[in-house]
Amino acid sequence: MSKRVVIISSSLRKNSNSEALASAFGQGAKIAGHDVEQITLRDKVLGFCVGCFTCQKTFKCVIDDDANDIVGKMKQADVLVFATPVYYYGMCGQLKTLLDRANPLFPSDYRFRDVYLLATAAEDEESTVAGTRTGIQGWIDCFEKAQLKDIIFCGGVTEVGEIAGNAVLETALTAGKNI
Ligand SMILES: Cc1cc2nc3c(=O)[nH]c(=O)nc-3n(C[C@H](O)[C@H](O)[C@H](O)COP(=O)(O)O)c2cc1C
Repeated sequence: MSKRVVIISSSLRKNSNSEALASAFGQGAKIAGHDVEQITLRDKVLGFCVGCFTCQKTFKCVIDDDANDIVGKMKQADVLVFATPVYYYGMCGQLKTLLDRANPLFPSDYRFRDVYLLATAAEDEESTVAGTRTGIQGWIDCFEKAQLKDIIFCGGVTEVGEIAGNAVLETALTAGKNI
């Protein structure tokens, strides 16, 4: 059955490593016949959550910016994919800001079930992605119908485009095909 897949790519760099993972995953999902939308945060305006809790009653954020449209798409997705560079052993601030702004989804009848994390970093230790995993898992823990399905991590890439030719892109493509 065809699934709606929303991929959020959060690096602001052009030709970004984590975006390459996102694109490979998306390509795989498209090949498998799914409906894929890849969104970059590069050109988006996202304000910080102000913590007013209005959204818990109205299902809508009081801030009028690009987060609302993205969050609406997240709500309707079957599969959510978050791609992030590792910044200080956690997800990047752009993605954290979006996840906070997704607070209107908390009381809502959201559709997503499987969530994937795609991450890149300069270091290549098992521990390099641990904080990012914990951060994403913390968000998913608040959506009890959802689960962290898989993590695809590529360490050892620092400069833009350095991931090109890396076998992990094939791993991401295959994961996208197998959702
Ligand atoms: C502010 C900042 C913090 C970073 N922190 C880490 C880190 O804690 N560990 C690490 O291995 N790499 C770190 N990096 C390197 C990036 O994770 C790495 O360059 C990654 O490939 C960037 O992905 P992108 O091309 O998708 O932006 C950091 C880079 C920046 C700009």
